[in-house]
Amino acid sequence: MEEIKKIGTAELKYDGKTYPLEVMEGTEAERGIDIRALRKDSRLIAFDPGYGNTGSCRSAITFVDGENGILRYRGYAIEDLATNCTFIEVAYLLVHGALPTQNQLSKFSRLLNRHSLIHEDMRNFFRTYPEHAHPMAILSAMVVSLSSFYPELDASSDEELDLMVGRLLSKIRTLAALSYKQSVGEPHVYPTSKLTYVENFLNMMFYTPVANYEIDPVQVRALNKLLILHADHEQNCSTSAVRLVGSSGANLYAAIAAGICALWGPLHGGANQAVIEMLEYIHKEGEGVEKMVERAKDKNDPFRLMGFGHRVYKTYDPRARIAKNACEEVLNKLGIKDPLLDIAVELEEKALNDSYFKDRNLYPNVDYYTGITLRAMGIPMNMFTVIFTIGRLPGWIAHWLELRDDPDNRIGRPRQIYSGPNHRDYVPIEQRG
Ligand code: CMC
Repeated sequence: MEEIKKIGTAELKYDGKTYPLEVMEGTEAERGIDIRALRKDSRLIAFDPGYGNTGSCRSAITFVDGENGILRYRGYAIEDLATNCTFIEVAYLLVHGALPTQNQLSKFSRLLNRHSLIHEDMRNFFRTYPEHAHPMAILSAMVVSLSSFYPELDASSDEELDLMVGRLLSKIRTLAALSYKQSVGEPHVYPTSKLTYVENFLNMMFYTPVANYEIDPVQVRALNKLLILHADHEQNCSTSAVRLVGSSGANLYAAIAAGICALWGPLHGGANQAVIEMLEYIHKEGEGVEKMVERAKDKNDPFRLMGFGHRVYKTYDPRARIAKNACEEVLNKLGIKDPLLDIAVELEEKALNDSYFKDRNLYPNVDYYTGITLRAMGIPMNMFTVIFTIGRLPGWIAHWLELRDDPDNRIGRPRQIYSGPNHRDYVPIEQRG
């Protein structure tokens, strides 16, 4: 990681005193004020709910320029990676910092194959979940359970690092597919070393002993692309959760399980499911897109246009553009006509031409078109956020590793402005009224 340049000093003036604050600049000219000594020097804290203006760390993994719609992993443009790479190459890139050579990729793939099984005893856990348990609930619990089945490694050598990363990347895909099989009451399917990462996932999801299942290369390519689009997005809610939990010294599995729980929310990764629910509602109820746009603008209505808006992007999300093209391509190639795609396109157009959305720079985000592609592949809606989880895992791992080696790392512990009652005298229960 490059040292951050110090390029000047800002001043905070308060209560007759001046506090000098260093201004720093990253490798893409993003600037920040170093307030680490602020409270010690001034007794003031920075108040920033939702951390919209807070830089929690230095990071060399992913660069997002929200004003210009740029996203790069380790310096490579998302457009190049999504067009030319497999998900496993991108996972390797995020974790190791460089794209793999052919030899490194083959070795990494062999490692993933070797560790794709889960301990047989873990399969019993699945049976104890109620039939309609959400796969995200199962997955988060299973990932944290891995820590009791697989001894924790400190990843101090390259081999240990590869093993720890390979295990998790590989097993999460098996756990995800098993949680689906469990929810539909079908027999579990084991991974096989004859298939690639994505092929294996599709096979574990859809193979049954009583029907022919052929893996479609169109679906394999599309799923690789979607996973790449999700692979990292710097300090988003779930990655911050992984870092926060990791900052306490918790093991990788515990930190990742926290990330999975954070991702589940509808404002974050759960939005891909919420988008389809919204489009289905419009379709079934015959609701015009105009009405939905009006509802989204109404401050007395909690409804928001799902798959729209982003904390960082103030222009079209580059992932959404790739996801939209991929969606149209997959539906074409599979010969599927989904009315939800027409509704999505119409709704997007309506919103993008509306002054409410224009004034607030609200555009489709990555979750807007991904669900329609997954639907076309026969993936059920409650698995959408699970797919996002598999995609985001290499990013989370890369951040956990970066944090572990960061000399600036301290336990994550924000402050608050207390706004509750001042001191009150204790009242015994019989005197309370
Ligand atoms: N529909 C209607 N209004 C919106 C929307 C939306 N989807 N998103 C933001 N706004 C409005 C919001 O009401 C506010 O208006 P005002 O200035 O009048 O109060 C303004 O735009 C700024 O919004 P915000 O809530 O302050 O923005 P935020 O950065 O805190 O939230 C967000 C970002 C993604 C949570 C939000 O845009 C949202 O809820 N979107 C819908 C859920 C969604 O699609 N989430 C996926 C995010 S991308 C992938 C991921 O992270 O997993």
